[in-house]
Amino acid sequence: MKSRVHAVAGVLALTLIGSFFVASVVVEVFGDHTAVKAVKTAIAFALLALVPCMAITGGTGRSLSASRSRAPLIRRKQRRTAVAAAIGLLVLVPCAVALQRLAADGDFGTAFAVVQAVELVGGAVNITLLSLNVRDGRLLTAASRRRGKHAATVTAQT
Ligand code: HEM
Repeated sequence: MKSRVHAVAGVLALTLIGSFFVASVVVEVFGDHTAVKAVKTAIAFALLALVPCMAITGGTGRSLSASRSRAPLIRRKQRRTAVAAAIGLLVLVPCAVALQRLAADGDFGTAFAVVQAVELVGGAVNITLLSLNVRDGRLLTAASRRRGKHAATVTAQT
């Protein structure tokens, strides 16, 4: 159950960050200023879902790995999650808020372009880090299933 909650929260966080990225690029390329403003407002509100998703993923991940916290895959996931959380809080959240304010003021000049570029780079890094965490999570789950099966076989034989 905890593993399900962890996986759903993690994949949801990745989906949200991916959607912010795709929506920002698509609206920059094809949308007018009204569409950009709508997307920036939606992203600023969707942060309210992203932050708890990341917190739940981190908390359940720590608890799932309590007995094997020194395993290399888990240490790598921990490091990636710490970097992703720092980028989220120090780059993505401030950028999303600034872009929403600039768009609301109808200011789509140089400042908007620079902040948008920084947000896209931070978003791309976080998409990569979270995707690697999903991949390693699947490996960890497969390993714990194998361990479970092995334990069941040993018990049945004794
Ligand atoms: C945003 C970051 C993270 C994402 C996106 C993520 C994603 C996932 C996914 C998709 C699974 C597979 C679950 C399944 O197949 O049912 C998983 C498993 C796992 N994750 Fe994470 N994870 C993240 C962070 C962490 C952290 C920080 C830790 C440890 C401190 C951790 C520890 C684990 C463990 C131990 C499992 C295996 C659970 C089991 O035994 O079935 N994860 N993760």
